[in-house]
Amino acid sequence: MCGIVGYVGHRPALDVVMAGLRRLEYRGYDSGGIALVHDGQMASAKKAGKLANLAAVLAEQELPASSTGIGHTRWATHGAPNDRNAHPHLDDEGRIAVVHNGIIENFATLRDELERAGHEMLSETDTEVVAHLVRDELEKTPDLSDAVRAACRRLEGAFTLVIADAQRPDVVVGARRNSPLVVGRGEGENFLGSDVSAFIEYTREAIELGQDQVVTITPGSIDVTDFHGDPVQVTPYHVDWDVSAAEKGGYDWFMLKEIDEQPQAVADTLLGRHTPEGRLQLDEMRLSDDELRDIDKIIVVACGTAAYAGHVAKYAIEHWTRIPCEVELASEFRYRDPILDRSTLVVAISQSGETMDTLQAIRYARQQRARVLSICNTNGSTIPRESDAVIYTHAGPEIAVASTKGFLAQVVACYLLGLYLAQIKGIKYGDEIAAIIAALEKIPAGIQRLLDEGDQVRKLAAELADSRSVLFLGRHVGYPVALEGALKLKELAYIHAEGFAAGELKHGPIAVVGDGIPVFVVVPPRARDQLQEKIVSNIQEVRARGARTIVLVEDGDDDVVPYADHVIRLPQVPTLLQPLVATVPLQIFACELADQLGHDVDQPRNLAKSVTVE
Ligand code: M6R
Repeated sequence: MCGIVGYVGHRPALDVVMAGLRRLEYRGYDSGGIALVHDGQMASAKKAGKLANLAAVLAEQELPASSTGIGHTRWATHGAPNDRNAHPHLDDEGRIAVVHNGIIENFATLRDELERAGHEMLSETDTEVVAHLVRDELEKTPDLSDAVRAACRRLEGAFTLVIADAQRPDVVVGARRNSPLVVGRGEGENFLGSDVSAFIEYTREAIELGQDQVVTITPGSIDVTDFHGDPVQVTPYHVDWDVSAAEKGGYDWFMLKEIDEQPQAVADTLLGRHTPEGRLQLDEMRLSDDELRDIDKIIVVACGTAAYAGHVAKYAIEHWTRIPCEVELASEFRYRDPILDRSTLVVAISQSGETMDTLQAIRYARQQRARVLSICNTNGSTIPRESDAVIYTHAGPEIAVASTKGFLAQVVACYLLGLYLAQIKGIKYGDEIAAIIAALEKIPAGIQRLLDEGDQVRKLAAELADSRSVLFLGRHVGYPVALEGALKLKELAYIHAEGFAAGELKHGPIAVVGDGIPVFVVVPPRARDQLQEKIVSNIQEVRARGARTIVLVEDGDDDVVPYADHVIRLPQVPTLLQPLVATVPLQIFACELADQLGHDVDQPRNLAKSVTVE
């Protein structure tokens, strides 16, 4: 949600800021804007809609040359997504320009106070108060960073702020509480961004900013303090992917590229995790073996697709470790007074590492003394920073709003965690763990086969493009796959779609089954005899009521074929690993259907890539 860019250096700031905003488009937004410092003046432009609209404004209203600038893509929270509410927001004199991500919870009080003091507000946003507050603070101090710190101390809620002052060329100040902000270190230039993709084409050297910190960048310096001005220790890091990873590389959509990158994402997430003797090693596991041996309950917290990865994990973790594992939506977790103690391991799954509900869930868990391990794809993001331990997925940057390779990599990381706990607790023999790892290492080839056979799924999507409703059924680990298949279709094709545990069918959902409704069914591997028989009955039940059945079934299993209108073959894999292959055709289906319907596959309406407000 909201993309933020700040730049000081030797290049034309307009180009750098616009390029950064384009790379941050994937976060989701409904307006864009830019402000440049030039000759003691602040020049700004903003426009509702896509960045193309802003570019059109900039073509008409030429901004002056500048090497200091800030920019923003806004995902509306307070106030409609129109030109007036787009960022940057300026103070009365047009001297201070502010862009913001987050929600300033006490903005109404501050706004009243500022209006009573004679300030005029031009927008309905919570952000605008900051420009006026900073301007007021500059009456007390000549130092922009001091003024920003003083303003921050008055703000409540979540905010990343990036601020420029017309009277301070070559300085941009950033601040963060709860929302993400990273610093890019260049040569004679420095950058601020919501994430590293904002500046990846110029530098791969970055600095994590911590909670309640203010950063001041000039072309030759980066100073970080807390909100009181005390210097703080920062953690620099090198970004291990380059600009090509954040580009479409010839694909029509990032999502297509990311679906195709899944064999690599799975292989990379497994890479280097075990010794030649087959013993698992998780380098980022900062919890000791003794601490892990004490764990007697696991609670997975996550949102959306990441939560479905957690649902898959529950089956594997409980089976391999015999430790009870619950899965909870992060947005519900801390409001239900969960029972946590030192021997509870809370596992937070988040691709972005910035999802606010998940972040608040782990903060709550740590306050209650639980240990927190995060599974995350984004180095330096807030959730791993605030966790006791982390397992990074190595999927590379995920740009499309719909999570694909992020999901598969999360599932793999959860399996690694389950096996690692089983190893530490001595519940599984080394050769059993090695056999599962060997099966996991064959998964990338299985995914590749499904990608190579993607045309049949694309053809099916074309045939079903006018469906008004689609159902997905699964049992055991096929159930979260069904949920994920339905979510993908909803978010991309805007079609009503629901996933059910097939066993629930007769308890209600079967009432919606009628003539021609497509029903996808994930059939468990034959090794799960009992489940297999039951799902065959479920397929017959929906077919008898007129459903069009699309059956995902492993190679060699022909029992369901007589009841299937369409068969999608899956490679044979162990039951618990089946989600890693069964999800892939459902991703291709949703992507293709959305494309057929003419939707923006990478940036579906109303959605943001990472949801950084509650
Ligand atoms: O970055 P996170 O993994 O924490 O994001 C969680 C969800 O917002 C995310 O998975 C969302 O459901 C995706 N749009 C699904 O495709």
